Amino acid sequence: MRSLIRTLSLITLMALTACTRHSGEAPNLNAPERVAAGQIIYAQHCAACHGAKLEGQPDWTTRQANGRLPAPPHDDSGHTWHHDSALLFGIVKSGLVPPYAPPHYLSDMPAFGARLSDEDIWNVLAFIRSRWSPEVRARHEALDAAVRQQRADTSSPDISPGRPR
Ligand code: HEC
Repeated sequence: MRSLIRTLSLITLMALTACTRHSGEAPNLNAPERVAAGQIIYAQHCAACHGAKLEGQPDWTTRQANGRLPAPPHDDSGHTWHHDSALLFGIVKSGLVPPYAPPHYLSDMPAFGARLSDEDIWNVLAFIRSRWSPEVRARHEALDAAVRQQRADTSSPDISPGRPR
């Protein structure tokens, strides 16, 4: 029983660590091996909807008859780069559910959390990012930095565990 409890608390700890990483910072998305691995994942899991050249589906800003939006492009012409890396990670992992979309939002974008590991998701984002122009990539890096700064400003050190009182 003891060891079961210990195992369970270890699992909880691991889950918490995973969560921190989830909502936390992106790893180095410039690493060429990430981009190469991500290219394969993109072709297998994303290209069917978002296009082999990241061009998206035709008329992607117009809702279809069923009320759902077509898949947007992931290149410079889309708005993927308007979202910071952590947010993009969340969308790919969880799909367009709250907090990424309103409750009961109907979307054709699947959640990939059960199919792709966190590393795979970062890799595919690294690939998408590698296809942006240098200007767009620089703007996205500035966005990521701003979001990181905002997080650092709003996290209260007083509630962090292990802080001496
Ligand atoms: C079955 C079709 C389909 C597949 C496969 C798919 N997507 Fe999507 N994706 C969509 C649609 C449709 C939307 C727009 C949904 C909406 O706004 O309702 C979308 C939206 C997104 C968004 C938000 C984009 C933005 O500009 O705001 C991201 C990021 C994304 N997809 C990434 C991916 C990645 C990465 C993969 C592969 C791992 C993938 N998608 C696979 C259909 C798909």
